[in-house]
Amino acid sequence: MSSNKIRASITGVHGYVPNYILSNSELEKLVDTSDEWIVTRTGIKERRILKGDMKGTSIIGTKCVEGLLEKTGTSANDIDLIICATVTPDMFFPSTANLIANNVGANNSYGFDLSAACSGFLYALATGSQFIESGAHKKVIVIGADKMSSIIDYTERKNCVLFGDGGGAVLLEPSKDNTGIQDYILKSDGSGGDMLCLKAGGSLRPASIKTIENKEHYIYQEGSSVFKFAVTNMANVSEEIMLKNNLTSNDISYLVPHQANKRIIDATANRMGVGPEKVLLNIEKYGNTTAGTIPLCFWDFEKKFKKGDNLVLAAFGGGFTWGSLYLKWSYNTK
Ligand code: COA
Repeated sequence: MSSNKIRASITGVHGYVPNYILSNSELEKLVDTSDEWIVTRTGIKERRILKGDMKGTSIIGTKCVEGLLEKTGTSANDIDLIICATVTPDMFFPSTANLIANNVGANNSYGFDLSAACSGFLYALATGSQFIESGAHKKVIVIGADKMSSIIDYTERKNCVLFGDGGGAVLLEPSKDNTGIQDYILKSDGSGGDMLCLKAGGSLRPASIKTIENKEHYIYQEGSSVFKFAVTNMANVSEEIMLKNNLTSNDISYLVPHQANKRIIDATANRMGVGPEKVLLNIEKYGNTTAGTIPLCFWDFEKKFKKGDNLVLAAFGGGFTWGSLYLKWSYNTK
């Protein structure tokens, strides 16, 4: 079926993870944990870490965009807009998107960062699609990337087992064959903000000796409370987008979920009625890379996708933020 509506199609994906592998057995040496606890509670076996001084999230984003431009045969000068979803920007300003644009030579573009924690890529994808659908832009790059190791306390077992570094990027272009982004539902609830946050370093609590002593520059999370909100809301919003678009579980080719915890993903898949063969998982290799998880899934599973496949993306994260997005895949990979 074709329609005259311009939709935003993903016409290429590329991801990047650093080489260093932080395994569960290495974590066993750092904190009081076990491979068995981590795997049964989360599904994570290893995660990647960007080692070395003076290396920020822009390095991850730059590698993603360089690969994306090469793969899609796109000139950096043709990029109109770069949106980078991240909660670990190189600095508060300039934006990481600006740094990446400079690194890749996207000299005719403008860009900005978008902060929505683990839902960041979904928010950024929905945002980027508006510029394509309106006809304002022809080529938009949406990046989800985080260097979570920069805000993790590796002496405290609760969070260090969960997170890793990495990211991915997609190219959005107009399509008139009805493939591309069909619909999205985005939600937020700031009353959950205190349960998952970075307490200091912003205007509320600027960096001081005290904030450092109190370890307030590391991620703070009330894990089991966040878990309950994540399970309920990610499942609810995924069901909601199916109902809104008259999709049955048979219509769905793949669920592309944010990879925070395999148990949250299983609950979402159950509610949607989709079997494990349709659920894309790479949490065991990378852990939770925050804004990076969904584009990293695209990158890992790109070869599986066929033009016209119905994909449902779903995420939940700090804020709280959550959402789902329904898209029809736009190309076959050779
Ligand atoms: N290794 C071993 N034991 C650990 C541990 C670790 N890495 N981390 C916590 N524990 C312990 C706790 O101290 C607690 O011990 P206690 O009962 O003696 O107090 C016990 O394990 C259970 O902790 P709890 O937090 O209730 O476990 P849980 O089943 O909720 O699993 C998470 C913990 C963090 C895996 C889970 O809550 C979760 O995934 N939350 C969502 C996190 C997330 O992904 N957020 C990102 C955005 S969605």
